[in-house]
Amino acid sequence: MSQRRVIAVVGATGAQGGGLCEAILNDPNGGFSCRAITRDPHKDKARALAARGAEVVQADLDDVASLTRAFTGAAGAYCVTNFWEHFSAEKEKAQAKNLADAARAAGVQHVIWSTLEDTRKLMDADDARMPMLQEKYRVPHFDAKADADEHFADLPSTYLVTSFYWDNLYAFGLAPKKAADGVYEWAFPMADKRLAGIAAEDIGQIAYALFKAGHTYVGQRIGVASEHLTIEQMGAALSRVLGIGPIRYHDVSADAYRGFGFPGADEMGNMLQVYRDFEREVTGQRDTVQSRALYPRLLTFEQFLTRHKDKIPL
Ligand SMILES: NC(=O)c1ccc[n+]([C@@H]2O[C@H](COP(=O)([O-])OP(=O)(O)OC[C@H]3O[C@@H](n4cnc5c(N)ncnc54)[C@H](OP(=O)(O)O)[C@@H]3O)[C@@H](O)[C@H]2O)c1
Repeated sequence: MSQRRVIAVVGATGAQGGGLCEAILNDPNGGFSCRAITRDPHKDKARALAARGAEVVQADLDDVASLTRAFTGAAGAYCVTNFWEHFSAEKEKAQAKNLADAARAAGVQHVIWSTLEDTRKLMDADDARMPMLQEKYRVPHFDAKADADEHFADLPSTYLVTSFYWDNLYAFGLAPKKAADGVYEWAFPMADKRLAGIAAEDIGQIAYALFKAGHTYVGQRIGVASEHLTIEQMGAALSRVLGIGPIRYHDVSADAYRGFGFPGADEMGNMLQVYRDFEREVTGQRDTVQSRALYPRLLTFEQFLTRHKDKIPL
């Protein structure tokens, strides 16, 4: 038991880190043990991880000393920030720097940084197709993570470029809604372009494969997705699996989407517009074949829906 190498998992009570903890805990002979990091070891999800054999350690992304303690003795560290808790690019960057500083101080041998691409590089600075947000970002939660890549550059890091979670259907309110005529409908500014998607838990499963591969992927950017699907394809699958009839897709403009008024609508509108206008670049960075080679049991969208259909509010 004591021979196992510790993987310290930030976000262990969340989607990505939770998937990684699952992967480690489900593979007791894999040579790794799970150190689950949370701000609150007493919360239900933390207690559940402890009950399954994880070592639960308290730390806060705003407190580099706590992160250093949590990383000490770990061979690997999974580093993720949660933009959606505070909606601030600057705060996300500061938290990412804390993660990198702690990994450096603790001498972690393999760091996985959960990142996204710099969407500002996809268009000229004066391109007026979408507004700048928080003064200097196109998609703050993408661009901030990309800016933070530099903090990990002198560490033995793998840059894990994640994709749109299909879990957003229930976790982010993106499920189709029933219209007055009884037909389910939804609106996206995606035209007929493909969205790179994945079950969030599978990001953690892929991270585990990267840790198990030792230094093979150190220094590399690994973009992950299970499938690249159009909204029509996603709607058809939802309709089949949930038995709710054809879904009416409103292909709205990105401006209209940004104006929907929910918290983060402008950010989501910009993000989906990037997925739409730069389909080739965005899907091209997220290799479904390599993702499946790393984790052969990667859920397809239909499999994801079959597993999680009871969570989708209809
Ligand atoms: N939704 C999508 O489609 C999507 C796609 C790609 C990337 N992402 C990115 O995924 C990130 C969020 O990851 P997730 O979805 O796995 O998270 P999540 O399920 O929302 O859970 C958030 C996790 O972050 C931890 N956390 C938050 N603030 C913390 C702090 N100050 N100190 C320590 N831990 C903290 C929480 O731990 P405790 O509460 O237990 O402390 C929790 O485990 C976001 O930055 C987002 O941009 C999302």
